[in-house]
Amino acid sequence: MTIGAEAVRLLAGADSGRPMSLDEHLLRHGLPSREARTPEALMETVASSGLRGHGGADFPTATKMRAVAASGRPAIVVANGAEGEPLSAKDRVLLAAVPHLVLDGAALAAEAVGAKEAIVCVSVAAEEAVAGVRRALGERAERGLDRVPIRGVTVPNVFLAGEESALVHLLNGGPAKPTFVPPRPFQRGVRGRPTLVQNVETLAHLALIARYGADWFRELGTEADPGSALVTLCGAFRRPGVCEIACETPLRDIVALAGGPAEPLQAFLIGGYFGSWFSAHHALDLRLGHSRMREAGGSLGSGVIAALPESACGLRESARVLGYMAEESSGQCGPCVHGLRSIADGVAEMAQGRAARDTHARVVRWSDDVVGRGACHHPDGAVRFLRSALSVFAGEVARHERGGACSSPSGRDVLSVPVPEAVA
Ligand SMILES: Cc1cc2nc3c(=O)[nH]c(=O)nc-3n(C[C@H](O)[C@H](O)[C@H](O)COP(=O)(O)O)c2cc1C
Ligand code: SF4
Repeated sequence: MTIGAEAVRLLAGADSGRPMSLDEHLLRHGLPSREARTPEALMETVASSGLRGHGGADFPTATKMRAVAASGRPAIVVANGAEGEPLSAKDRVLLAAVPHLVLDGAALAAEAVGAKEAIVCVSVAAEEAVAGVRRALGERAERGLDRVPIRGVTVPNVFLAGEESALVHLLNGGPAKPTFVPPRPFQRGVRGRPTLVQNVETLAHLALIARYGADWFRELGTEADPGSALVTLCGAFRRPGVCEIACETPLRDIVALAGGPAEPLQAFLIGGYFGSWFSAHHALDLRLGHSRMREAGGSLGSGVIAALPESACGLRESARVLGYMAEESSGQCGPCVHGLRSIADGVAEMAQGRAARDTHARVVRWSDDVVGRGACHHPDGAVRFLRSALSVFAGEVARHERGGACSSPSGRDVLSVPVPEAVA
């Protein structure tokens, strides 16, 4: 995994291939001033900065912090580094390279919302991130740096583990499955306490905003999409990897940063498995920011950009992803469990050229039936992905329906889709 940068903030100095030590971190960034870290000042600065969550939901960070603080009860901060999205690597790269930035963010957020504890959750599969956080926590404890105790926890490497209610459920001793809300975690979360769940990248931005201010944060990006963002570039790029960009950078520039396409491209998947396909022809001028992507009918999600080569079959790739999404349903809501399975089976039949005449129409009908009918957004994300696939790969779909040749007779797989572990 390479690390690149178009705008270097979070990843500044993160090129040594090992976690930045506490001394290096403090030399580079120092500590936020005492005035900047008072709860009201920090929440005001975060609000002025326009910081929004980088875990996928794009929610204003200050609004959530204020809601947790307003309860007046001892709270808990959870740094969400579960990164269940199989194509995403930004959180594990961040935690492995600059763990103190995330831990600073967690500590500052904890002080601001009146938390008595902060918990950093890291995917058990992200070995370097786990090691980086462990070492960083040791360094901080030795120096007595944090007023609020911070501990690290590993979480299972499954798609749903990072959904905030699933994470809270796990931290309360249950399985990593979403719970039926309300109450939302900010009202009643870990051990029944108001719980601020923030993505680890969001907290790292917060740590820098506390030091350098809201105006500094807004020097990059635009009014609606300020600051920088980490993105994961995967698929047919010459140099795939994680890179930091200014928000609203055109996709064309990001492709160049990744060394250009490794071969001719037909489409980009933007936003990961909850995101949308865009034809390569139209996508290059897209500006990668949450509000711009919403205007374009998509979502930046957790910042994944996958490049699909012309030599692959978009329908087949989409069928594989939908099969995975159906498997990853937590099995609690009927429309999600049965609907996603039927959709995935239907699209797989279409991709294999053995679908019945009405399969396509049925898939569309089933997708209408599952949207908004789950306790979490898992089915909604899967349907967004499906709809974009049926639109962008309409030609491929029609070819398969006519029994014509698939674009990828070799059956080449491009997107990484984890295979469920066999049960002994
Ligand atoms: C199915 C599902 C999976 C999610 N996985 C993650 C994840 O791996 N990491 C993450 O930070 N947020 C994830 N989220 C979003 C979290 O629920 C939550 O909105 C986020 O952690 C809040 O942090 P932020 O405001 O800083 O983005 C997921 C949401 C859903 C619906
Ligand atoms: S919508 Fe699906 S993934 Fe979400 S809680 Fe219900 S069954 Fe689980």
